[in-house]
Amino acid sequence: MRSSMLPCTPLPVLLLVVACAATPGPGGRSLYEDLGGQPGVERLVTATVRLAHSDKRISFLFEKMNDAELIRQLQDQICYLSGGPCEYKGRSMSEAHSGMDINEAEFDAFVERLTDAMVGTGIPHSARNRLLSLLAPMREEIIHQ
Ligand code: HEM
Repeated sequence: MRSSMLPCTPLPVLLLVVACAATPGPGGRSLYEDLGGQPGVERLVTATVRLAHSDKRISFLFEKMNDAELIRQLQDQICYLSGGPCEYKGRSMSEAHSGMDINEAEFDAFVERLTDAMVGTGIPHSARNRLLSLLAPMREEIIHQ
């Protein structure tokens, strides 16, 4: 088999995951709608960043950053990924997290706080899982950069 035929590129898998998660859920609604549209995404992202600041395992990474800018970028990214009417114009995940050397435990801590924020802002269980499955493939682009 020629090397170009080897099924080793993660891109199709990533696209499939993105396509599935952005596809309407059981009730025919998009994930974006299930997250509560723009106000829901804004509440979620603001709560996540607030919780990240209060978590001693990761707060040091957020100390010097511009919260308003991060919230704006994260909002656009989640809106876009979930099928909302937004465009993400920020950096790639490896560029955005470059120099932080985020480890597995720190990544998991961030996802825990994101999950707490989803529960706290009333996002339904199935939507929580769909959003997490969209973000999980980014792990490799974020850790150890
Ligand atoms: C799936 C998980 C994650 C997603 C989707 C995500 C998304 C983003 C986005 C969209 C930005 C802004 C990019 C830009 O300004 O161009 C960003 C920046 C940032 N992220 Fe993440 N991130 C994730 C995980 C993490 C983790 C685990 C940490 C730390 C524990 C972290 C810490 C930061 C910090 C401190 C910045 C600001 C960087 C700067 O302004 O220079 N992120 N992230």
